[in-house]
Amino acid sequence: MDFSIYRATMEDIELLVRHRLSMWRDIHPEFGDPVPGTEERTRMWIKEKLSACRLIGFIAKTRDGQVAGSGCIWLREQPPLPMTSHLETPYLMSMFTEEAFRRRGVAKLIAETAVVWCRSRGYERINLDASESGKLLYEKLGFKAGYSMRLLL
Ligand SMILES: CC(C)(COP(=O)(O)OP(=O)(O)OC[C@H]1O[C@@H](n2cnc3c(N)ncnc32)[C@H](O)[C@@H]1OP(=O)(O)O)[C@@H](O)C(=O)NCCC(=O)NCCS
Repeated sequence: MDFSIYRATMEDIELLVRHRLSMWRDIHPEFGDPVPGTEERTRMWIKEKLSACRLIGFIAKTRDGQVAGSGCIWLREQPPLPMTSHLETPYLMSMFTEEAFRRRGVAKLIAETAVVWCRSRGYERINLDASESGKLLYEKLGFKAGYSMRLLL
């Protein structure tokens, strides 16, 4: 099946919210229900970032217009670094493919499109946090584990 990628607009906020919450449910079912207000906070955050062009959404659709999946680049602010003049690094996030369309190359197409978008704008790298099912996908695209560490409090 052929898929095409569309750039998300303000009309797509509800879709991006649904995909983001579904992504978390799929990755961490053990978390149970999100803390109250999560959906509204997610909606407000996406709305703000999308309208400021700090969030770039890529939506995959079938030829007949069915939504198959989506993913976003968040231009994440950072302090000045010696190896770049950019004050942000693209962060690939909210990758989600609808169950019915999994393992058909949808996420790969979205991630590849995001990579092209970032490269064409002169960014030197893309960061992300990978779920277990996402790891192989990203490795195949050339992503490598980096220096990040975390302490759970
Ligand atoms: C992870 C996810 C986005 C993959 O979407 P997808 O459209 O099915 O992925 P693709 O078909 O583009 O897969 C490309 C490659 O990634 C790897 N891959 C994808 N899903 C995988 C899985 N469940 N387990 C292991 N490898 C997987 C495979 O190498 C695959 O190539 P192949 O099918 O030729 O073997 C999808 O399973 C999903 O939405 N999962 C729940 C949310 C999530 O984990 N999001 C990622 C957050 S980092």
